[in-house]
Amino acid sequence: MAQTLPKHTHTILTLIIFSSLILIQAQTHQFSRKLSTKSLNFKKQKLTHLHFYFHDILSGDDPTAIKVAESRITNTSRTGFGAVIMIDDPLTVGPERGSKIVGRAQGIYASACLTDTRLLMALNYVFLEGKYNGSSLSILGTNSVFSPVREMPVVGGSGLFRFATGYALAKTHKVNFSNGDAVVEYNVYVLHY
Ligand SMILES: *[C@@H]1O[C@H](CO)[C@@H](O)[C@H](O)[C@H]1NC(C)=O
Ligand SMILES: *[C@@H]1O[C@H](CO)[C@@H](O)[C@H](O)[C@H]1NC(C)=O
Ligand SMILES: *[C@@H]1O[C@H](CO)[C@@H](O)[C@H](O)[C@H]1NC(C)=O
Repeated sequence: MAQTLPKHTHTILTLIIFSSLILIQAQTHQFSRKLSTKSLNFKKQKLTHLHFYFHDILSGDDPTAIKVAESRITNTSRTGFGAVIMIDDPLTVGPERGSKIVGRAQGIYASACLTDTRLLMALNYVFLEGKYNGSSLSILGTNSVFSPVREMPVVGGSGLFRFATGYALAKTHKVNFSNGDAVVEYNVYVLHY
């Protein structure tokens, strides 16, 4: 077919096809653009309060908190410095172990202070209940576990908690000093859309 067309027709067609390809490429490879929050359906910022109990279970056949690493001095340090604990702790509505689960705290805490019992907390609350099922909040903070109330920043979120910022207040509800099991009450205040 191309052979039957005059030579310049072929050249013009080729030029048209190539220039439109270049235009399409320029569009798909655009690196950034300005948007209004409304264009992604983010309407009004709101403040949400979440209340739940965190069960840190180290004992028994089904622990939800397990030491995965330690330092050369962890055993002799009075703060257990360098111990790293991986958790998948249930979050429940009430303080009892069998209370309804609303989510899980998944991540790590680690002994990060040589002189006090103070933890680095780096974890996600993965929610499993109601409209928050599938949404998560990310916590990154310091936790001085023997203080009556500890505050940790909420540094982000996903799902209904996109753009989240806020803080979590932790209060020990119950601790068994012989096996380390603890129940911690959390009040979390989150700004999100
Ligand atoms: C610390 O103590 C535990 C339990 O006795 C032991 O299994 C572990 O090897 C010790 N770790 C170090 C770094 O000495
Ligand atoms: C949460 O979402 C998962 C996945 O979509 C679903 O399997 C589960 O049943 C939901 N849980 C509740 C309590 O709605
Ligand atoms: C605390 O832990 C010890 C050792 O596992 C256990 O025997 C005891 O019953 C626990 N105490 C409570 C109040 O659960």
